[in-house]
Amino acid sequence: MNEYELGTIVSGSLSQGFLMRINPQYDVEELKSGRFVSIQGAHTTFFSLLTDIRLDPIPNYTTFAYPERKSIAHEVIQAIACSAHATIRPLIALTHDKQITPVKSIPKHFAPVLPATNQDIAYIFGSEHQTPGKVFAIGKPLDMHADVCIDLEKFTERSSGVFGKTGTGKTFITRLLLAGLLKHQRATCLIFDMHSEYGLQARNENSNAPFVKGLKTLFPAQSAIFSLDPQATRRRGGNPDICLTIPLQSISVGDILALSTELNLHPTACEAAYLLAARYKKDWLIQLLDRGNQAAELAQEIGAHAESIAALYRKLRIIERFPFFTRSNQGLQSPIQTLMEHLERDLSVIIEFGTYSSTFCYLLLANIITRRIHAQYIEKTEQFLASQHPEDEPKKLLIVIEEAHKFLNPAAAQQTIFGTIAREMRKYYVSLMIVDQRPSGIDPEILSQIGTKFIAQLHDEKDISAVLCGIAGAQELKTVLATLSSKQQALVLGHAITTPIVIETRRYDENFYATLAHTADAKKINQLF
Ligand SMILES: Nc1ncnc2c1ncn2[C@@H]1O[C@H](COP(=O)(O)OP(=O)(O)OP(=O)(O)O)[C@@H](O)[C@H]1O
Ligand SMILES: [Mg+2]
Repeated sequence: MNEYELGTIVSGSLSQGFLMRINPQYDVEELKSGRFVSIQGAHTTFFSLLTDIRLDPIPNYTTFAYPERKSIAHEVIQAIACSAHATIRPLIALTHDKQITPVKSIPKHFAPVLPATNQDIAYIFGSEHQTPGKVFAIGKPLDMHADVCIDLEKFTERSSGVFGKTGTGKTFITRLLLAGLLKHQRATCLIFDMHSEYGLQARNENSNAPFVKGLKTLFPAQSAIFSLDPQATRRRGGNPDICLTIPLQSISVGDILALSTELNLHPTACEAAYLLAARYKKDWLIQLLDRGNQAAELAQEIGAHAESIAALYRKLRIIERFPFFTRSNQGLQSPIQTLMEHLERDLSVIIEFGTYSSTFCYLLLANIITRRIHAQYIEKTEQFLASQHPEDEPKKLLIVIEEAHKFLNPAAAQQTIFGTIAREMRKYYVSLMIVDQRPSGIDPEILSQIGTKFIAQLHDEKDISAVLCGIAGAQELKTVLATLSSKQQALVLGHAITTPIVIETRRYDENFYATLAHTADAKKINQLF
């Protein structure tokens, strides 16, 4: 047996995967779950994921005296009586005429299993050098130095998700992907930046470089910061492009109903909100806030129960505490309109929440803004379908939300605009990128619509099952997920990647920033000639 061979196939099936006897010369401790390997069939190479490793029991081990370690007897017993096996899940096949196809056949007994090579990885996942702008490197396979790339076009075609426990690198992966999209101008991004981590510099837990650059710092001409808390943005050394204010008149009853779980709103309070809106139209909330403490009078005016009005007032009074909600009727849509204009001009927008990072603010703002985007993109798409002029085709928009289960839990997904976007907006050029620690909290129907998933370490069984629901070979992938490191490793699978693979995430550091500068320079040079 070749010393580079990891082992040979001894049994298995198309549905259950294969069993590889590990090469006795190979140091079993070097073999890791999640490793990408190739089974060398006679005509086909089967690229596969190593999902589990086991030591077989030593036959009649009680009859062996324990030989001294490193003695000849020890080595002999190890060679003749000890064996180890690994389970391997075939993922894709490379035929003899170099076609990548789904796995529909199996290799013969004793087919050798080798580590995948750097050329294999480039062939399967593409390479930034060979097709610049088409693919984007997101990391390296375990124990390898080759780049694993995703297809950027496919990535923006459907919604995507980044999942993992706290501190596993979700925000870093998201920032990396967004930088890739901006670098290659594949989508305009709207980021609801709850913890102010995407725009300017953000904290890095690595003490050698305590801060990393944000997207506004890296792409100043392609992005803008809209801040709800301009002082907080300035404290962190930046200047917001726009101070975002929201007129109370632009909050609809639907926006409030989307928060009914968060606010614990009773259905009668919701009815009272509708009655107020029927009577006072856009001023319904101002009327409630101004006159809610005389609930009986207001209730009589609109034909509602005084208790319902009082309850609604108690829950919504909190709105007055936030300085970014304004009463001015002038330029009613203006800040949101400015935001829309930015997106229209292909400028990505980062909405910083600063100190107003409560779930209430986050959900309310994200709903108000996204509802408008929804309406606008439907209109734009219809215009394009009518005119069929390429210049009317809307640019793809990617909306990034953290703590996605708050928007997309089974109850909220029916009420918030995000459920609709995840389900159907692909046709209207809008997709979601959801970042979450608790995927089990997300409506399973929405999870099943997610095109590309980045799954970092998750411990809760419910979260693991939710995120792998409906995926072929989920059982083996569970074992792989359970063995991921707690940082900077992820299982990537879905629409934008040729086949599921475990990666060490690309480092988001000075070297990465340098690759961005290169493209900017290369573009300038291209423009010159
Ligand atoms: N690709 C990467 N490049 C460099 N450092 C990384 C990378 N991924 C993760 N890290 C390190 O891991 C730390 C935690 O990552 P991150 O803040 O993205 O976690 P998170 O999953 O978003 O956590 P939380 O759920 O608490 O927001 C970072 O501060 C950084 O030091
Ligand atoms: Mg985070």
